[in-house]
Amino acid sequence: MKQRRRIYEGKAKILYEGPEPGTLIQHFKDDATAYNAAKHDVIEGKGVLNNRISEHIFTALNRMGIPTHFIKRVNMREQLIREVEIIPVEIVVRNIAAGSLSQRLGIDEGTVLPRSIIEFYYKSDSLGDPLVSEEHVTAFGWANPQEIDDMMALAIRVNDFLSGLFLGIGIQLVDFKIECGRLFENDMMRIVVADEISPDSCRLWDIGSNEKLDKDRFRRDMGGLVEAYTEVARRLGIMNENERPRASGPVLVASKDKLH
Ligand SMILES: Nc1ncnc2c1ncn2[C@@H]1O[C@H](COP(=O)(O)OP(=O)(O)OP(=O)(O)O)[C@@H](O)[C@H]1O
Ligand SMILES: [Mg+2]
Repeated sequence: MKQRRRIYEGKAKILYEGPEPGTLIQHFKDDATAYNAAKHDVIEGKGVLNNRISEHIFTALNRMGIPTHFIKRVNMREQLIREVEIIPVEIVVRNIAAGSLSQRLGIDEGTVLPRSIIEFYYKSDSLGDPLVSEEHVTAFGWANPQEIDDMMALAIRVNDFLSGLFLGIGIQLVDFKIECGRLFENDMMRIVVADEISPDSCRLWDIGSNEKLDKDRFRRDMGGLVEAYTEVARRLGIMNENERPRASGPVLVASKDKLH
């Protein structure tokens, strides 16, 4: 067997050379990091859950015509993706105040924001991913104004879709982060959603109990991370092979007077 070529190893994932030019294999590790890797742990099962949850979301985005790098999941921990030129800017969309926004601006966590807020963070481990403005993004050539527009339009569409998806399963989408990349096809280039969308990159609160179902459980030493991610996967209808798949399509519900 031929050894696969490892292109990049990050904190949560490994990228391998893909089977065809222009493709990569994205491998989800069990490593959890926070505060720019100052905090690190291995949480068994996290990679498998994120692979499945991210597959579920990216498949839906592709179906909706929101372009992404995702091609298909290939096994429990890996997916086939299109290689893109990652734009070194993380786009964060916030619907409810939490995390660094609450800390910086003194807004109580849980405050519903007057409108969705989009923020940019420069991807730099050595600087701790600092918050930047559009001015920085264009002045330093990380993305041009058209690309910023495209990224913001994608982020808003992803926010609308994800908010509805999670609302339907009793979860509030507090905020999330996406990465975008340039996908080159022949003479054309377009901006697509890359990386992953999972409870590692979203804040998800149970609507009934306000319980956190995301990486804040790790950041804040709350425990129960795998249980929380499993609950998200369960509600999304993503089942283990040995579990009974949820029936799809309309379900006939007996009306009250027929129940005895
Ligand atoms: N389609 C893609 N093509 C090329 N690179 C990608 C693609 N999707 C994601 N990436 C990059 O692959 C890496 C995934 O690894 P991981 O998420 O572990 O990185 P990380 O430790 O968070 O570090 P980074 O600061 O580089 O994001 C990231 O650098 C991400 O930007
Ligand atoms: Mg990452």
